[in-house]
Formats: sequence, C-alpha cells, structure tokens
Amino acid sequence: MKARHFLDIWPLPASELRSILNEAKSRKAARSGFPKGTLDVDTPLSGHVLAMIFEKSSTRTRLSFDMGIRQLGGTSVVLNAADMQLGRGETIEDTAKVLSRMVDAVMIRANNHEDVLKLSECADVPIINGLTNRSHPCQIIADMQTLEEHGLDLKGARIAWVGDGNNVAASFAHAAPKFGYSLAIGTPSSHRLDKKDIERARAEQGRIDEYDTAEEAAAGADVIVADTFVSMGDLDAERRLKVLSPYAVTPELMAIANPGAKFLHCLPAHRGEEVHADVIDGPQSLVFDEAENRLHAQKAILQWCLAA
Ligand code: CP
Ligand code: NVA
Repeated sequence: MKARHFLDIWPLPASELRSILNEAKSRKAARSGFPKGTLDVDTPLSGHVLAMIFEKSSTRTRLSFDMGIRQLGGTSVVLNAADMQLGRGETIEDTAKVLSRMVDAVMIRANNHEDVLKLSECADVPIINGLTNRSHPCQIIADMQTLEEHGLDLKGARIAWVGDGNNVAASFAHAAPKFGYSLAIGTPSSHRLDKKDIERARAEQGRIDEYDTAEEAAAGADVIVADTFVSMGDLDAERRLKVLSPYAVTPELMAIANPGAKFLHCLPAHRGEEVHADVIDGPQSLVFDEAENRLHAQKAILQWCLAA
C-alpha cells in the first residue's frame, strides 16, 4: 500500500484536514493536566519510530515532533543532514530506501522542496514536510487550532498576512479554501507570493486578495499574521529589512484590523523588525498557544500518516 505523506496542504481534501485538526484538539483535551513526559492513555503509535532530518535549524518543530511521537507511544531518532551520507553525495533514492527499512515515518526540514517530493516518491514510509523553502504545512494545522480555540469561526473569517510572501504565507494561501477563510496579503511587489500558490487556492474557490500595503490588508481583518523578514536560506538580509520594514506589525496596524483581532507568528520572532514588542507581547497575541499547539498538531499529523 502507498504511504500517506503530509507534504503540503493544497493536495489534501478539506475533510481530511478537518479530521486532523479535530484529532489535535481532542488529544490535547484528553491529556489536560498530565505531566509533559506522561504518555497518552491509548499510545496509538506504540513501537513506531520517527526519523527527523534537519537541513536547517529548528526549536518548535524538533521539540514538538520528538515529544509528540513519545506521547503517542513511539520513539524518534534525529539525523543531522550535515552528518548524513546524503551530504557526501548518496542519492535521495538510496536514502529513502534505507530509511524505509528501518523507521516507520520520516519528518524532514529541507532547503529544497523538490528534494522532499523526491524523497516521498522513493520512500515506502510516510514523509512529513517539516518546512521547506516553499511551504510549512504543519504550522497551519497548529495555527487553525489556535484560532478556533480562541473562538474564531474560520469559515468567513478574514486573515491578513503582512510582510514577506514566504513559505508560511504559501501554506496560509493553500489552506484558505480548505478552512473557508479569506486571505488578505499585504506585501511589496518584490516579495509577492508565487502565482502558483495563489492559483492553487483560487482553483478551489479560495478568496485571496493581494495588496501593496500592510494597511490595506489589515483593514477589516480578524487575524493579522507576521513572520520573519529574513527566512532561513535568504541571503539578502539587509535589502529585505529595508524593503519590508513598512510591513511591520505595530499597535497602529492592529488598530486598523477588527476590534479584538488576533495576532499570530510562527516564531522565531524579531521584535522591532517584523513585529513591535507591544503587539507580540500584548493581549491580542496568541503566539505561545500557537507554539504549544505545534505539539498537538504534530501528533494528529503523525497519526493520520501512520493510520493508513
Ligand atoms: N515555527 C517553527 O517551525 O519553528 P522552528 O523553526 O523553531 O521549528
Ligand atoms: N519563514 C521562516 C519560518 C521559520 C519557522 C523560515 O523559513 O525561516
């Protein structure tokens, strides 16, 4: 049987994404008050091993997958890409075959999205995209969970993405038709999302509005989302900081959004660059619930992949 990969939001049916999200919520509720190292009562992935490959740095993704697989009854092994034979020229095909013989699933954070797709084509076990240059689908499940927990009805909600049209922005666009929110994107023309990502959302009747300013995107928004102006792998930091600085989320920008609008940021954040400290550390910010929900979301993703 073909393995069930979690590579991107856009190819997955809305019903599957909804069931992953609901599983994340019910699993979180079921272990409320448990010490962090205590296993979930049902340990559905007992005996399973997750390999994690990192070509780039990570705090949340690494911790949440590691704690997540343990709480589900399994174990993990971390492979630093720099120490693997992959870095010395071993092919992705051979790496995929070897991994498939020894572990039950692989989570990879990679520089090139195409490498993750190739890995998934050659592996017999589920491959999970833990962030690439193109997308960050796991983040979206945690973000949707956070917004619903804070009372937002995603259907008909207006979410504003301001700043760089990066990997996380692409996944926000992919998820718009799946969860029924409209996405207002405020970016400079030099940092727009890839047209393909917008088209993917629109092909499923997702509403995506693109603006040249943060203010236009923020008007009437229920949520404002920011991310770093310089992603891992970006080489032009100085220019980016200059071009993107008018897109910083300030208290003034939050005031343009709907009253009580929420603030999200996948973290790591840079106070004084993409977000003002008064916003990220203020009452409208959900960033630490969002970070915690990575754990609950990863568990639901792992289960979905391995249930097949
Ligand atoms: N948000 C996120 O993916 O964080 P890390 O880079 O720390 O994993
Ligand atoms: N856009 C950021 C997200 C980090 C979680 C990056 O790719 O570095």
